[in-house]
Amino acid sequence: MFKLITLGDSGVGKTSILKRFVNGKFEEKTISTIGFGTSTKDMTLKNGNKIRLKMIDTAGQENYQALATTYIKNADAVFFVFAHDDRESFSNIKKWLDNFKEINRGVDFNKTFPAYLVGNKCDLPHEMKKEEIQQLKTDNNFYGYIDTSAKDDIGINQIFDDIGEMLITIYGNRKKKQNVKLAAKHQKQKKGCKICQPDL
Ligand code: GTP
Repeated sequence: MFKLITLGDSGVGKTSILKRFVNGKFEEKTISTIGFGTSTKDMTLKNGNKIRLKMIDTAGQENYQALATTYIKNADAVFFVFAHDDRESFSNIKKWLDNFKEINRGVDFNKTFPAYLVGNKCDLPHEMKKEEIQQLKTDNNFYGYIDTSAKDDIGINQIFDDIGEMLITIYGNRKKKQNVKLAAKHQKQKKGCKICQPDL
């Protein structure tokens, strides 16, 4: 099971993205998240790998942000969400990023952590130019960027498919490396090791 966290200003559509993915539903009127919410979904990836995603939906409102610290620390993947019709939410991505990196001691996203930049409400007029968004993505080494609309069901399944693939690539490889190290360690202590020589 992998833990995914959503971060971004209040009202950008974090809850709506998760609801669209989990229940296939969209609500025009929502209640602002209080504290955080969680949901779980099993996924089968294109290559047949099966994963379980636990999604932690944080509140964008300032007074709940301290609550998200533990979830940020334990996250395996993160979506940084802004809304296309809200320039402030786009400018604030930097603030969410700084907070995430401070809690995770300067984690570098460069292919080592699945961090996705999500531009939601792409069904509404766009306030930011494509170049600005691209710049933010490259400056911060986001693993990917996507336009979504929870309302019109655009890009939603794709972000989760992509994040699933990233999780397997990054953590699957890390696990393989750990196993190789473990096997090497056992080889060293071969004499009498029941793992390397199960017949002993
Ligand atoms: P907090 O819980 O306060 O952090 O907000 P949030 O980021 O979870 O936003 P939420 O999902 O509650 O959505 C806020 C409003 O935006 C609601 O009225 C949604 O219906 C609307 N909304 C969400 N996604 C979209 C979208 O893709 N397009 C449009 N037009 N509206 C959307």
